[in-house]
Amino acid sequence: MKDKIEDIKQQLENLKIDSLEQLEDFRIQFLSKKGKIQGLFADFKNVAKEEKPKVGQMMNVLKNQAQEIYNDIKENLSSQDVGTDKQMDLTRPVEFSHIGARHPISLVRNEIIEIFNRIGFVISEGPEVEDDFHIFTALNFPPEHPARDMQDTFFIEKDPDIALRTHTSSVQARVMENTKPPIRTISPGRVFRNEAISARAHCIFHQVEGLYVDKNVSFSDLKQTLLYFAKEMFGEETKIRLRPSYFPFTEPSAEMDVSCNICGGKGCNVCKYTGWLEILGCGMVDPNVLTNCGIDAQEYTGFAFGMGVERIAMLKYQVKDLRLFFENDKRFLEQFSGAY
Ligand code: DAH
Repeated sequence: MKDKIEDIKQQLENLKIDSLEQLEDFRIQFLSKKGKIQGLFADFKNVAKEEKPKVGQMMNVLKNQAQEIYNDIKENLSSQDVGTDKQMDLTRPVEFSHIGARHPISLVRNEIIEIFNRIGFVISEGPEVEDDFHIFTALNFPPEHPARDMQDTFFIEKDPDIALRTHTSSVQARVMENTKPPIRTISPGRVFRNEAISARAHCIFHQVEGLYVDKNVSFSDLKQTLLYFAKEMFGEETKIRLRPSYFPFTEPSAEMDVSCNICGGKGCNVCKYTGWLEILGCGMVDPNVLTNCGIDAQEYTGFAFGMGVERIAMLKYQVKDLRLFFENDKRFLEQFSGAY
């Protein structure tokens, strides 16, 4: 019996297993129910009584040893498995890895942010689900003012005081409530309006709001800031033009056009042969708004502006249909991958 055990031990020591098939053979020969080691246990009853403890122990050691060998080799072989020559086909065409790209709306938003960062504007953000006060009331929209209808608002059914913000001007109100001037901030974010989706309008889009409040801020500061922005965004030769307009939260208010960067101002179908493209609304912060937000309107003045990111992206990249930005068709998005 002892010889048999020694013999199997020898066999275990001289094993050479290089494949899973050989390993399976080994398992059948040594470890299975009809295998050599199990065979020893069948013979155990014939061992002399006084020998039993010693032989029994030797058999257990042998069994564990064989099991360990099996486990180790199995682990080794399966970890090599992935890289074995058998699995690697060097003639296969390369699979290109797809590298993600930034969305054009993010690219343009980041560019707007960077331009204003360079002249000291810091980012501020506010909630997308906002209360009436910050969207309308603080910004000088009287309760029944028709200006509230200017923007079709998504209200929350249960609470008419809560809505999805229709513009990022709501962040102005929040910043002014919480910050002592000087304030120089831009607020990028998503806004929501109950609009039919078309090539020119969507119910979700992005804006960047700007606000500057300090002593002696004047309209010429606004104009100079926006001229700087236009040149940085659309090129050094860009001109701007301010047209009088109306917003409840600014007085005076204006809309800003930039000279058409496609025809250089000569007139083309993008600028509808006017030579100008409208890109943002702006004005001097209405003193009522300063007061509503706890800022002394005698001491401070400010300017504000707001622009649509999609609109600027459409002009910059000459995209004719706003819906393309929301469809996430890779063939469209990939075109911007080199842009940043
Ligand atoms: N909130 C306006 C809109 O959504 C844009 C705007 C106009 C923002 C004038 C301003 C501003 O801060 O001064 O159409």
